[in-house]
Amino acid sequence: MVIAKISSVGCWVPPKLLTNQDLEKIVDTNDAWIEERTGIKQRHIASPEVATSDMAYEAAKICLVNRGIKATEIEAIILCTVTPDMMFPSTACLVQDKLGAKGAWGFDLVAACSGFVYGLSTAAQLIRAGCHQKVLVIGSDKMSSIINYQDRNTCILFGDGAGAFLIEAGTEEDGGFLGFHNEIDGSGGDFLKMPAGGSRMPATAETVAQNLHYVHQEGQQVFKYAVRKMYEVTRDLLEKNGLTAADVKLFVPHQANRRIITAVAERLGMPLERVVINIDQYGNTTAATIPLATRDAIEDGRLKKGDLVVFASVGAGFTIGATLWRWSY
Ligand code: COA
Repeated sequence: MVIAKISSVGCWVPPKLLTNQDLEKIVDTNDAWIEERTGIKQRHIASPEVATSDMAYEAAKICLVNRGIKATEIEAIILCTVTPDMMFPSTACLVQDKLGAKGAWGFDLVAACSGFVYGLSTAAQLIRAGCHQKVLVIGSDKMSSIINYQDRNTCILFGDGAGAFLIEAGTEEDGGFLGFHNEIDGSGGDFLKMPAGGSRMPATAETVAQNLHYVHQEGQQVFKYAVRKMYEVTRDLLEKNGLTAADVKLFVPHQANRRIITAVAERLGMPLERVVINIDQYGNTTAATIPLATRDAIEDGRLKKGDLVVFASVGAGFTIGATLWRWSY
């Protein structure tokens, strides 16, 4: 059996910050409420000329430099996003061209906050099946492009950013991919969505006037679902692999709300020292939270070769996923 391993990580966030204090000047909110209810202190916001593909390109470049390989060695690009530069061509195509990844194929993967976790399990299968040696998984979202900065329920939550993992064929000694558990549950679609801009409700002056091209969310419904399902898929994935939370060195959850993360960790019996939380710095960057959290854990010396790590998420759809890896470098 070919082993699929993570061999490099690269991330990029735009330099401009939007702090809770900045938001106090825009909507009726305050720093104490935001921090207590979400754990967020600041988010990075891309400037108008920077699109999702630009952030993805920067993250991918860093990922390739960290591994010391050329873009022409990439065989496939899985670009996870809900904020593509445009409906088509895919953002994967735009990034392939910018990178000069000649000969690669690829596609956009739309699974909202679970995009990166789905991208990882998909890339792992392409490697394990022997189809490819090197697959780039990128999570990139310019959430600020679909947020209504007059809606205090949503504008406090999201930020912009991008991250990439290189998934490569390896050997047993490298550790690598051990399993995944993904689900979708479309019955929850109405709780978190961008209603207009698709074939159901194409863009018109009315849809724009009614703010239908922004994120609409029923926060409490999403919160309750996220806690329950992120716990369940992680528990089930560990059980399937004959493991318990005690075996896991690092739990890297999607960063949507600090309270969601701590509630899931508590249910799993996972002490917070083994949970990565960096939502205070970035907010919810949708497909980019997991690579950003992983990058920060590596830089803090919290992730070492041989460590068992679980990546888990719940997102709009609903999409739910967890994937288990033995860290390879
Ligand atoms: N600042 C101050 N007050 C705010 C506020 C803000 N930014 N946003 C909402 N409030 C108010 C509400 O109006 C409400 O006031 P009321 O009691 O007078 O009606 C009160 O705070 C409580 O609102 P509620 O929606 O119950 O807050 P909450 O504790 O559920 O927190 C979220 C709201 C959005 C932070 C929370 O529901 C959440 O994180 N949900 C999940 C979001 C998520 O994960 N999304 C992405 C999924 S991948």
